[in-house]
Amino acid sequence: MTLKEFLTRVSELEKRVSESFDNVRIIEHLEAFFQEFLGKKSQLNELLKHIKDFSPEEKKEVGPQIQQLKNKINQDFLVKRNVLETEALNEKLKEDWIDVTKSEPFSVGNLHPISKIQRRVEQIFSSMGFEIADGPEVETEWNNFDALNVPQTHPARDMQDTFWISKDSENSHENSVLRTQTSNIQIRKMIEHGAPIRIIAPGRVFRNEELDATHDATFYQVEGLLVDENITLGHLKGILEKMLSELFEKEIKIRIRPGYFPFVEPGLEVDIWFELPGKEGKWLEFMGAGMVHPSVLRNCGVDSKKYGGFAFGFGLTRLVMMKYEIEDIRLLSSQKKEFLEQF
Ligand code: DAH
Repeated sequence: MTLKEFLTRVSELEKRVSESFDNVRIIEHLEAFFQEFLGKKSQLNELLKHIKDFSPEEKKEVGPQIQQLKNKINQDFLVKRNVLETEALNEKLKEDWIDVTKSEPFSVGNLHPISKIQRRVEQIFSSMGFEIADGPEVETEWNNFDALNVPQTHPARDMQDTFWISKDSENSHENSVLRTQTSNIQIRKMIEHGAPIRIIAPGRVFRNEELDATHDATFYQVEGLLVDENITLGHLKGILEKMLSELFEKEIKIRIRPGYFPFVEPGLEVDIWFELPGKEGKWLEFMGAGMVHPSVLRNCGVDSKKYGGFAFGFGLTRLVMMKYEIEDIRLLSSQKKEFLEQF
């Protein structure tokens, strides 16, 4: 091959390289391009084999030229590969992305039925002007019993019913219990704010009882207290009927019987008429209530001649069981997923 022929072939090759190169538009074409122009059997390699036939003078001319071409092809190839790979990756990412606002979570959580009903009850009482109050679960013996007029000898203080934290002191302010009722909050709030007062206090209470389908060692109550001037049992009845009808979304019949609780006089038991579809209706004990005992008012520094009012306490757990027709109380604290998913 003459030098002239050789140089013509080099420049032809250069032209073809740049044409083919423009046609390489996707990453899959790159490999073929590489084989054709840079691979072992490429025309470039063919040409390189002829160099040895040239004179040293000629070699000086063609050597750098062909080397330049080789470098250029190599570099163009690398740049192109980079561009095409980035494009391919972007293309893939366009399809691969996850729209987190549309994806379905593995499972959706929901409020525990007790929380649900508690919130609803709070809403209803708030709409009637009641404040939501809170208090501690570990309580002094005085707040849990003495201030509420529960006699020292009352069976409720017995080891059977009360979880004692400490009970060695003569002074009931120094002994503590896991509160057995939310009535302790009546005491705390009246001491804090005096009268008039209008609160409900939902909370957890504890009883050292024998456990079965209707008794758990812990359950939830809602305490209510309204103290003002000229309050009557009529107000209590009206508020209760309103609350229950809102909660059950239908008219609820209640029945009031005399009952005994040391902290109210007169004391009352309130039953509600409960009917399940297809079953005979019955009266269910729903809560204790009454007119706040004057001694309780006095224990909290409230003028019992000027002020009076009613108090009540019902089992929130009981209410949830009625509302959702749950038969075993233990399910509510079981944390069973299948159970909780139903609400
Ligand atoms: N604390 C009572 C209980 O746990 C319930 C109760 C009854 C609360 C009468 C009251 C009330 O405020 O007036 O059984």
